[in-house]
Amino acid sequence: MSGAQVRLTGGGQSLVLDVANGVPSLIWWGEDIGEADARVAAALAPRAVPHGMLDGGEALDLSPTAARGFTGFPALEIRRGDGTFLADPRLVTVEATPHDARLTLEDVRAGLRLVLTLALDPATGVAAFASRLENTGATVLGVDWLAAIALPLDHDEALLFDGRWAAEMTPVRARIATGAWIKDNRTGRTSHHAPPFAVVGQPGFDEDHGEVMGLHLAWSGSSRVILERLRDGRLQVQAGELFLPGEMNLEPGEAYETPTLYAARDAAGLNGLSARLHPFVRQTILGGRLAARPRPVTFNTWEAVYFRHDLETLKDLAAQAAALGVERFVLDDGWFVGRDDDTTSLGDWRADPLKYPQGLTPLIDHVRSLGMAFGLWVEPEMANRRSALLEAHPDWVLGDEGRAQPLGRGQYVLDLSRPEVAEAIFAQLDALLSAHPIAYLKWDMNRDLTHPASRGRPAVHAQTRAVYALIDRLRAAHPAVEIESCASGGGRADYEILRRSERIWTSDNNDPTVRQKLHRTFSIFFPPEVMGAHVAAATNPITGARSGMTLRAATALFGHMGVEADVRTFSEAERATLARMIALHKSHRARLHGGRLVRLSHPEPGLAALMAVDPEGALVSAVQLDLPRTASPAPLRLAGLDEAASWRVRLLNPSPRPEASMKRAPALADGAESLVPGRVLAQAGLPLPVLTVGGVALFALERVG
Ligand code: GLA
Repeated sequence: MSGAQVRLTGGGQSLVLDVANGVPSLIWWGEDIGEADARVAAALAPRAVPHGMLDGGEALDLSPTAARGFTGFPALEIRRGDGTFLADPRLVTVEATPHDARLTLEDVRAGLRLVLTLALDPATGVAAFASRLENTGATVLGVDWLAAIALPLDHDEALLFDGRWAAEMTPVRARIATGAWIKDNRTGRTSHHAPPFAVVGQPGFDEDHGEVMGLHLAWSGSSRVILERLRDGRLQVQAGELFLPGEMNLEPGEAYETPTLYAARDAAGLNGLSARLHPFVRQTILGGRLAARPRPVTFNTWEAVYFRHDLETLKDLAAQAAALGVERFVLDDGWFVGRDDDTTSLGDWRADPLKYPQGLTPLIDHVRSLGMAFGLWVEPEMANRRSALLEAHPDWVLGDEGRAQPLGRGQYVLDLSRPEVAEAIFAQLDALLSAHPIAYLKWDMNRDLTHPASRGRPAVHAQTRAVYALIDRLRAAHPAVEIESCASGGGRADYEILRRSERIWTSDNNDPTVRQKLHRTFSIFFPPEVMGAHVAAATNPITGARSGMTLRAATALFGHMGVEADVRTFSEAERATLARMIALHKSHRARLHGGRLVRLSHPEPGLAALMAVDPEGALVSAVQLDLPRTASPAPLRLAGLDEAASWRVRLLNPSPRPEASMKRAPALADGAESLVPGRVLAQAGLPLPVLTVGGVALFALERVG
């Protein structure tokens, strides 16, 4: 801090706040800027005030409210029984280091203290913003809205994320031309259709061009993101937790803390953004814990057997999976007492005595004897009406007692904010993990919260915190157990759940054509090692589309790879291809999961290309998703490769066989190795063979000097 400014630095960037007039505002976030230049920027920051507006102009600061002259969506909405609703907290203290700041503001009259925390990660420049509101008054303070922060935006083109079950992270472009774009997620989970993420950037920004700001609210409950064009022409963004009416009431002395809004800026498009976010997630969100634990190739039983669990079949599948190179076997839904379909038994976490007369031990022993770790599916937040748990405790569900509520997949949500409920679920899971060498839980959550009342009061916030607390308690008791976050596929994918999990189940849709697109948007925010990606059956059970093994495997290869199909039905040729691709995944795993993922651009819109690159080498995939518009593919430019180095390039997959789709194969497509300068690969590009629809070209690059 220097005088009237706070200047944070990190990742080659500066974030500068003006704190001169008692109200902190952002005056610079971009390239690293010295103190003197920052002072000049601050001096130039105030905008002209036209007639017809308040004398101070539109008061857009870090927590703007009407009480200080802001006419847009306020960052703070409060109320008291005596009618108090205005809040104008003013700075009382500023504590800052070069990388973080804590700004304390107070409004004595309204009886509140607001603490804003801001941090800029020294390595990546990813910013973290949160606010904390304390009731310093003598009566109950109702909080209707508290944004983690309000930020001014430089641009008005947004990339937003829509979606549904089996089609998560669907990109939607929008210009915020007027008014507010408000995305509310009321489902009580991160959601398929309204995850609290956005990218805002220069019109036309793409993977490699344009200044962009990426925003990610780390919260797994209900949420709200606001992008608003103010009447003075500027844009603001806010994000925070969405409360039910009257949900957040603070007693005197109580405080509420928002989820953290993570944000990153980059001048080089979405790949630039990911180059900041991925290392940040690895180091800070995951705490570096995956670095020393290679992601085991996983087999999941769901699409192989669904609810039809039969010990001999499962043992056979395990043996065949191990032979393919699988390292972890996950027993999905259907293993617990009475669970023959999705109408029953959630809440009763004991092995079904009919399917598993000797419990899970024989299967677990078999799996482990094959050299694989064992994982188990659970859905701890839920219970079916038909369950021993709810028969004994019908009042343990979230709901308004006496009021019927719609079922979701035949189930109710357990009220985990009640200590006795959380305790009972913890005890069951703890017993399972203590009795068996279970290395992994696939933690599912398959129902929106529609009646989230606990003891007569709204409780989405309390439930979300209680879910975190339950997972945290279980992890503390069983620190070696990994967790996969699943919610009907990718319905709970966010940085806060990722703090307490090692993998995200990206989508129930394993169709590689869908996945190629999904992986592109998912990987804007998430590094590939947490992106669960499975090889499924040739005819996809969800889309009905058929695809070849090379395409399926080459798609799963770029995430945390797995297999989810009845592998006994695969042909010898399919099995051989799959085993080869699993071996390829393992040989490039450190690069795929620790290097840089670049979403390569190509003029052909139907061609999706990815590159995982580190200083020693790269793996490149080009996949033809639609019939190409042009007769011969343009070369693929490898942006992000060290241009000063030379690279030995090899086309890995012999299919599609050149003679099938081409009269003449391009250079490098004959399987021979070639030494190519990085500059040539980056600027002239990698020659591509003609690919049929569903065709894949995989290249390995090795750095040579
Ligand atoms: C959810 C998950 C699937 C599978 C089923 C089991 O839909 O997303 O992967 O685990 O539940 O019921």
